[in-house]
Amino acid sequence: MSGRSSLPLKTAKKRVVELRELLHEHGHRYYVLDAPVISDAEYDELFRELQQIEESYPQLLTADSPSLRVGAPPLDGFESVNHAVPMLSLGNAFSQEELFEFDRRVRERLERDTTDKSQVTYVAEPKLDGLAISLRYENGVFVQGATRGDGQTGENVTENLRTIESIPLRLRCAKPPAVFEARGEVFMSHTAFDSLNETMLAEGKSAFVNPRNAAAGSLRQLDSRKTAQRKLSIYLYGLGELQGMEMPATQMETLQQLGALGFPVNTEIDRCVGIAACYAYYESILQRRLKLGYEIDGVVFKVDSLAEQRELGFVSRAPRWAVAQKFPAEEAQTVVDGVEFQVGRTGALTPVARLKPVFVGGVTVSNATLHNMDEIARKDIRIGDTVVVRRAGDVIPEIARVVLKERSKKSQKITLPQRCPICDSPVVHSELEVKARCSGGLQCPAQQREAIKHFASRRAMDIDGLGDKLVEQLADAGLITSPADLYSLTEEQVAALPRMGEKSAANLIGAIKASRQTTLSRFLFALGIRDIGETGAALLADRFGSLNAIMQADEESLMEIDDIGPIAAQSVCAFFNSQQSLSMLETLLDQGIEFPEVKARAIEPTLTGNTYVLTGTLATLTRDQAKQQLQQRGAKVSSSVSKKTTAVFAGESPGSKATKATDLGVPLLDEQSLIDLLQS
Ligand code: IVH
Repeated sequence: MSGRSSLPLKTAKKRVVELRELLHEHGHRYYVLDAPVISDAEYDELFRELQQIEESYPQLLTADSPSLRVGAPPLDGFESVNHAVPMLSLGNAFSQEELFEFDRRVRERLERDTTDKSQVTYVAEPKLDGLAISLRYENGVFVQGATRGDGQTGENVTENLRTIESIPLRLRCAKPPAVFEARGEVFMSHTAFDSLNETMLAEGKSAFVNPRNAAAGSLRQLDSRKTAQRKLSIYLYGLGELQGMEMPATQMETLQQLGALGFPVNTEIDRCVGIAACYAYYESILQRRLKLGYEIDGVVFKVDSLAEQRELGFVSRAPRWAVAQKFPAEEAQTVVDGVEFQVGRTGALTPVARLKPVFVGGVTVSNATLHNMDEIARKDIRIGDTVVVRRAGDVIPEIARVVLKERSKKSQKITLPQRCPICDSPVVHSELEVKARCSGGLQCPAQQREAIKHFASRRAMDIDGLGDKLVEQLADAGLITSPADLYSLTEEQVAALPRMGEKSAANLIGAIKASRQTTLSRFLFALGIRDIGETGAALLADRFGSLNAIMQADEESLMEIDDIGPIAAQSVCAFFNSQQSLSMLETLLDQGIEFPEVKARAIEPTLTGNTYVLTGTLATLTRDQAKQQLQQRGAKVSSSVSKKTTAVFAGESPGSKATKATDLGVPLLDEQSLIDLLQS
């Protein structure tokens, strides 16, 4: 990875001190203050230089070196850590009344007059939805990080926390206290969460259900190099054990102190005089909640004065001086007025419940998807039922459950229509599928419109300016019934539509024309072949190279491609065997759609008759990938070694299969031989 440094030890010693100083400073500016003064490349250069010197002179490596942020070798398990000062939990308030009640109790205990203006000063902090941790610094150096655990004992996750770039590895102060513990919350931002899940799915793993789970999963990795790959954030909001330093006088000072020592502190935090101001803060953050970029599940109000906090004390595990006001559940009750069936691009019928409008999760909801008939049966939803509607964040509203005790005798079961609500063609419901479908194909106006929307979309033909609404308008005006019709539209026709000027009409026609130059994989995807998504289309194009070759391929040769299973293969064949799609294809090609042929990458079945066994961890590909690639070449991949095994490929830390191979005299080969075989 890094080279070696040629500096003499004495110079190297001086330089590492300088480099760490620079990296601490620029890291803090970048990750905490969000105000870098050098470029990423310059930062990386300093980082590499430090790594190189430390590699040449391991004796110069120190516990606070930024080079340790990349993670350490995996652990067997986490050790326990005792919290010298327990990590507490919080009491909850679920309504304005409960919040005011909390304030009343505080004032009573502090013997404040509950009627006059002697209000208590609170600090309002967003309640981050992550996990609580404690960071311990000895003589200014980060030495230990732990999870909250049960409040008394947590887990030692030091190596994992070290990889979070915004955590200072050294306190920013000239005379650090002997012991300093900072407490806060590790969480994952929405962007980090989304991109992590994208990666997980791309790797065939299951996605995390929410950022909290993702943060917890990332922090509890035994291999901190994996944690280093995850983008975790942290805000500090409190103190634990202190030695050689005075406790600040207020919570606000505590936060300022944390900020000054180099810790990230939430900028949304505010001081509120009196409980009414607290409630106003709560309402304002509730409004801005989705714009914060990270999950919060409420607001924490803390009495500002630490002297008053001490006076108030604790009840069991929760302080009397703080409360968490939680956001209302994103659920509400309403009534199902009816059910409509929407017809999608491939004819799939989706039942949608029409609801009595209800305000939930910050918006008025009047429709909720019912997904499919199985879902309706499972939840036993009927027309006329009182139901609980759920909407969290910006997800599509759903019916969580039926309130059975409210069910009236007049409630009606929901039945699948026999005929398509749009084109009256028979509806078919194969046992192999959850969804019922309209059999009208491209004769069905609903399927036509969806097919055109899909065709024009960004990842398909990418026709600039042709969004769903405009497709609807063009179809309403009777100007288009299939994707091919787009290419015979004229500027005059488009300009005559409501809210459409000459300029935008000309732009649209221009964009439609321009879309004729495309690629085979985009075109294939745009055709809307059932079960063929963007990836499937790209694989087909890559493997077969031309439209003709794909049209002539049989199910078997289609299935030789990774990721194209029997269902997708069948769909491709069905598509190119249908008269309807062939004539659509012909008209489209007549309109001058062009795509360069790609060089087909056919794979020869060179390994037919051979049987291989894989064991251990491969460095350059997963075992599944290796298996697929061997199978593509006609080989069998077995999970057990026998005399008939052609060879065993062993990666790192191979299992008993390697021993068995040697016992049976089966060739035991390494990863490089596997790669050579696949490339030959
Ligand atoms: S203070 C003495 N402040 O909420 C009170 N907790 O329900 C200790 N949390 O375990 C906690 N944001 O994981 C505090 N600004 C904040 C918080 C916060 C999130 C979490 C924390 C704690 C839990 C208690």
